[in-house]
Amino acid sequence: MSHIRGRFQKKADKCAAAYTASIPFDWRLYPYDIAGSIAHARMLAKQGIISAEEAKVITDGLASILEEIEQGEFQFKSELEDIHMNIEARLIEKVGDVGGKLHTARSRNDQVALDLRLFAKEAIAETLIRLQVFQRALIDLAEDNKDVIMPGYTHLQPAQPVLLAHHLLAYFEMMQRDVDRFVDCRGRTDVMPLGSGALAGVAYNIDRDFLAQELGFSQISRNSMDAVSDRDFVIEYEAAASICMMHLSRMAEEIILWSPAEFGFIELDEAYATGSSIMPQKRNPDIAELSRGKTGRVYGHLMAMLTTMKGLPLAYNRDLQEDKEGLFDVVDTLLSTLEVLAGMVGTVKVKRASIESALQKGYLLATDLADYLVKKGAPFRTAHDIVARLVSHAADNGKSFGELSLDEYKRFSPLFADDVYSITMESSLAARDIVGGTAPSQVGQALAEAKRIIGN
Ligand code: ARG
Repeated sequence: MSHIRGRFQKKADKCAAAYTASIPFDWRLYPYDIAGSIAHARMLAKQGIISAEEAKVITDGLASILEEIEQGEFQFKSELEDIHMNIEARLIEKVGDVGGKLHTARSRNDQVALDLRLFAKEAIAETLIRLQVFQRALIDLAEDNKDVIMPGYTHLQPAQPVLLAHHLLAYFEMMQRDVDRFVDCRGRTDVMPLGSGALAGVAYNIDRDFLAQELGFSQISRNSMDAVSDRDFVIEYEAAASICMMHLSRMAEEIILWSPAEFGFIELDEAYATGSSIMPQKRNPDIAELSRGKTGRVYGHLMAMLTTMKGLPLAYNRDLQEDKEGLFDVVDTLLSTLEVLAGMVGTVKVKRASIESALQKGYLLATDLADYLVKKGAPFRTAHDIVARLVSHAADNGKSFGELSLDEYKRFSPLFADDVYSITMESSLAARDIVGGTAPSQVGQALAEAKRIIGN
């Protein structure tokens, strides 16, 4: 574009032009770029910087460009470098010289900051919706299986019985912290940078509050140099997304673990499983594996952006153009992962019989037996020792606790009596009647609270 290569005699080298062009990826900022330009033109007219007629020609021209892009009729040109110049050049082509007035009191530096903030705000809104849908799926699965008791694990070793609903609500909590993080990040994204110009502010009497209002921002930036070079909001979205993907990846890992016969706790719906090209018996959890895998690339984009920023002097530097591909990919990856995993959770079949048989293995009630002895006066450490020896004895004889005779129990401690047989999975759960515990009454309240939090 002539006004950009103003003082140069030579055309840009082909490789150099391709290297610097961002249009191959920043084209997707077009709705935000056009919305920003329309608001800017209106503001310029309101302030008497351009005439009302000129603003009308410009905004109509921009509206028709939006339509061209949406109809797939717009020709993005790499030699025009980026989305901002592609749209501006087309505007001038359509409406003539008056189109050249749009860039008054503006620079691409504050323009791109605006566009990316508008994009990020929309991404956050969509992320929050999908998080809520995911939380809803967790609640529904928990409610449908409210009475299912399963082995809880530490070190992936059977530890104590818990309600499946309690296990699922642990993920609800993680998701709720993610919600908080995205809401928090929204506050710092919601800042309108136009008026910062290239770096020093603009030399026109523009109305920044009007722009903020037109574009739906609740604040305007306070420092022009910061505003054109700040990408904290990108980093914060990517950081929140990394943590959220970590949570989803943990859940994916459990889905993967629980699917095969070894655990057999769940069966994936066919719509969310894949077959093997040679092994007909397979029902593979590829979607869960991919979401675990994609977590890595989201972390990668966060590290890339932090690293890009770390050496930048004020104010705008072209390095900042590297913000976009990472952010776009993080948003796309997180949104699609949330959507597909919510669908998977919503259709998974809980295999109660296999969970029940896993429950019978692993001496899950050992802690309860120790607590039983404590209540009869034994110090906890002694009780722990007694039960440890009892477990070895039972395991050596291939018996469960329920299959040991009272005589056998008494061999380990005289404190054992008939009521030892009243220790069951149910009594173990019911005993943990403490806020945050797995007792059915507590989990029932936690479910009600979870529903209140997501608003139904
Ligand atoms: N494509 C550029 C970016 O993404 C737009 C801003 C360019 N500004 C400049 N002075 N070269 O950052």
